[in-house]
Order: sequence, then C-alpha cells, then structure tokens
Amino acid sequence: MITLGIDIGGSGIKGARVNTKSGELVSERVRIDTPNPSTPENCAQVVQEIARQFQYHGPVGVTFPSVVRHGVTLTAANVDQGWINCDAAKLLRDALALPVTVLNDADAAGIAEVEFGAGKNVGGTVAMFTFGTGIGSAFFIDGVLFPNTEFGHLLIRGKDAEKRASAQVKENKGLKWKEWAERVNEFFVEIDKLFTPDMIIIGGGISKKFDKFGPHLRSVAQIVPAKFLNDAGIIGAALAASKARKAHT
Ligand code: BGC
Repeated sequence: MITLGIDIGGSGIKGARVNTKSGELVSERVRIDTPNPSTPENCAQVVQEIARQFQYHGPVGVTFPSVVRHGVTLTAANVDQGWINCDAAKLLRDALALPVTVLNDADAAGIAEVEFGAGKNVGGTVAMFTFGTGIGSAFFIDGVLFPNTEFGHLLIRGKDAEKRASAQVKENKGLKWKEWAERVNEFFVEIDKLFTPDMIIIGGGISKKFDKFGPHLRSVAQIVPAKFLNDAGIIGAALAASKARKAHT
C-alpha cells in the first residue's frame, strides 16, 4: 500500500509517499521550512500544502518531536509551546480532511528501523536514539514499541541528556568526535543500568558519520548505525498510519 508519511522537525517539514510493504520511498521527498513561529496552525498549513502537492487521498502518518498520547501532543521541548496539550490528530484531520495518525518522531524512526532496517528480526530489547537538535528515543521489546520513552530527558550531571550530548551540542561546542562520543557514553551508562538493551541503533543525520564516532561508543548492547538516515521518520509515519487504518477496517 502507498501511504503518505510526513515528518515535522524543528527546521523542516518533509513528506513522501511510502510503499509500506517494502519501506521504500516511491516519490520525491518534498521539504518545506518549518514556519516561525512553529505554532500548530502554521505547521498544519505546511502539512496541508505537502498533501496538496502530492494530490494525496488516503491515510496520512505525521511525526512530531514531542510526547504524543492518542494523537494529543503533550510536550514541546524544541518547538512552539502552543503544541502542549494540542489535539494534533484532530487539527491535522480537519486541515486535510483525511485520516491522520500522529506519533513521536523517534518512535516513527524506530518503527522504520525495526520493520525494515538495522533492527529487523532482532529479538529482545532494542533501543533507538536519534541525535539531532535533541535526543529522541524509541524502545522495543521483541519488535513491539513502548511509546514515548523520552530518554533524551534523563538527567546526566544534573542536565537533560540532550543538553549534553545531542548532535546540536556537538556542533555548538565544536566538540571532536571522541569528546562527543564520551558524552554519549555517559548517557549509555544510565541506559545500560536501567534497561540492559541487546541492541542500540544510532539515528539522526549524524549517523552517516558513524565510522568517525561509532568506534568510541561503549555499551553492553551491540551498537549499530541506522539504515534510513533522514527518511526513517517519513517511513515510520507511513507505516503507523497504514497499521492504524488496518486496525479500523
Ligand atoms: C523531545 C522528543 C523528541 C526528541 C527528538 C526531544 O526534545 O522531547 O519528544 O523525540 O527531542 O526530536
């Protein structure tokens, strides 16, 4: 089935048609800058524009960088505060006049990796972390997602982990790969203590440089780079929408 996946991020909103049987993008990717301010209404307009450009009619999956419970966005760490307690699924359903499933961005990326990427057929506990503006997390037990884990907000040295070890922190502070990897390792010490994962998948744009920092990372888990770099969110969003549709038919 071909489903539209849309990934709302801090700097861009990206969409593509996805073959949910293979996990492949079957169209160009459309990207529009995230509006400033990134209010729900402004973002909804961009999502509407992307669906219009694809002349799409069908279920739509949309990711968002916050806790999303039953379609309601509950937090807003790096986006406009208007998203707190916003019924995002309803807002976007009304804007598109289509069925919409909204989920956390890292959960979506993890779904794509576990279904078709680095975590495919891996049993036990798999944790995916996306390193970007923040740190997103997705947590799976035998392929089943435990949603909204928000491990990027675990406290390390009294600070949110993402304020110490996101890709943005690396850039802002001009950290060398090894220096940054040591910060990520401090985060992994906490993750290991709490969950003893079997596999950790490293996602986000920075994962394409895995050969530079991967050898410095340590965990009780096997550490691997994501397969789907920046498309993981789009793919996972489409998969979630297609699953939601099947559940309702
Ligand atoms: C948010 C998460 C999100 C992550 C990556 C964090 O600041 O709290 O919900 O998954 O950033 O975008």
